[in-house]
Amino acid sequence: MIAISVNGERREFDAPLNCADLIARLALAGKRVAIERNGEIVPRSRFADEALLDGEHVLVTSGPTREPIDPVRYVSNRSSGKMGHAVAIAALRRGARVTLVAGPTVLPPPPGAVYVPVQTAEEMREAVLQHLDAATIVIKAAAVADYRVKRPSATKIKSNKDEELTLTFTPNPDILKEVAARKGTRFVVGFAAETDEVRTRAAAKLRAKGVDLLVLNDVSQRGIGFDADDNQVVLLDRWGGSIDLPTMKKIDVAGAILDRVLELRAASRPSSRDRASR
Ligand code: C5P
Repeated sequence: MIAISVNGERREFDAPLNCADLIARLALAGKRVAIERNGEIVPRSRFADEALLDGEHVLVTSGPTREPIDPVRYVSNRSSGKMGHAVAIAALRRGARVTLVAGPTVLPPPPGAVYVPVQTAEEMREAVLQHLDAATIVIKAAAVADYRVKRPSATKIKSNKDEELTLTFTPNPDILKEVAARKGTRFVVGFAAETDEVRTRAAAKLRAKGVDLLVLNDVSQRGIGFDADDNQVVLLDRWGGSIDLPTMKKIDVAGAILDRVLELRAASRPSSRDRASR
């Protein structure tokens, strides 16, 4: 049995309750909410962590991609996968089912997640599209290589110190844009790692990619962003909102992103009472 008190008024529920939308709405409306389970008051934060994403399926991408030059060499970037893995762990803690599509990283797969390891952007695209149908929330934290080598060599390229080596790159598919274009009722979150004119570029990216929420981090600053344990981000949403978060552990940044997703989704969806009265 679950009981919920709102501003001191207590109601009991026998049926298992998915409280995610309800709590998000009440919190948005500035109500004092207390939750009891089997006669015990559950601290709001614990309950939130346990149940806020009950019934949700979160599809997360993490890490870099590796684009082969030849069988032994590749082009990649400095992404460690720490942010994407933190998002997956935070979503699991909140009761979601999680599919994590991850580029090469030394991090272990989070227990409880469906883990899909990939190497290249094209493999990541295929895995994401394959798991998209089941997802209700998509969070693309991976640093996908924008380009791949057009014609990787089938054999190891021999070194010739007297000659320059020229590689031709071709653009990779923009997975996030493709997901956003066919998102349906899903909530789609993208990341933007910028080094200059960060806000202007992020605002443009939010529109260009067609996402609901963009997590901006300035990777020119030391100690945050790529390969760091901390991150400092700005959450820009397509309804014009902008929230500057302080520097936090990546797991707490991940929690804040998920909380914001629920807030925005609750605020943007008509309530069931509104729907019934139409
Ligand atoms: O355009 P940019 O790479 O800065 O955008 C970053 C966001 O777009 C991230 O969420 C990243 O996962 C996603 N992305 C993608 N496919 C690409 C490039 C970026 O999904 N080819």
